[in-house]
Amino acid sequence: MPKKRTLRVNGQKVTVRAGKNERLLWVLRDRLGVTGPKYGCGINVCKACTSHVNGKAVNPCSIPVGKLGPRDEITTIEGLPKTVGGGLHPMQQAWIDHDVSQCGYCQPGQIMEAVALVRRTREERRQVTEADLDAIRNICRCGTYQRIRAAIKDGASRM
Ligand code: FES
Ligand code: FES
Repeated sequence: MPKKRTLRVNGQKVTVRAGKNERLLWVLRDRLGVTGPKYGCGINVCKACTSHVNGKAVNPCSIPVGKLGPRDEITTIEGLPKTVGGGLHPMQQAWIDHDVSQCGYCQPGQIMEAVALVRRTREERRQVTEADLDAIRNICRCGTYQRIRAAIKDGASRM
């Protein structure tokens, strides 16, 4: 049964009606109009929907909304600039400077994955390595992978 739920999305408290098993991606896109996280596969494979929950990269197409509470911080590409105080996030600026996007469909997810990766390596007190970049599983149908790698390294140096 759909029930009223309070969530925190991009720094704002929102209320929405949704069943507990409804996936976060549909709640964001269809009920809240937050369309930055893209629908690719819907089954946790392509990573076009990559966003952050409590700062970590997740795939909202695989998260039942009932697992989230009002204390969980959901951040999508729309809210990323706010995490650094407005304007563009340095990783977004690096993306522009390296002219990464082709069709652009996978790119919000790629950027969210990149930011989470840099944060994780910082917590581990190390730099992003080639192996980290090899381990990224976000699919780009346009094949922009070389530019993505260059932008992540550059964006990391600006974060
Ligand atoms: S749409 Fe979420 S992983 Fe493909
Ligand atoms: S830029 Fe087209 S899918 Fe990645």
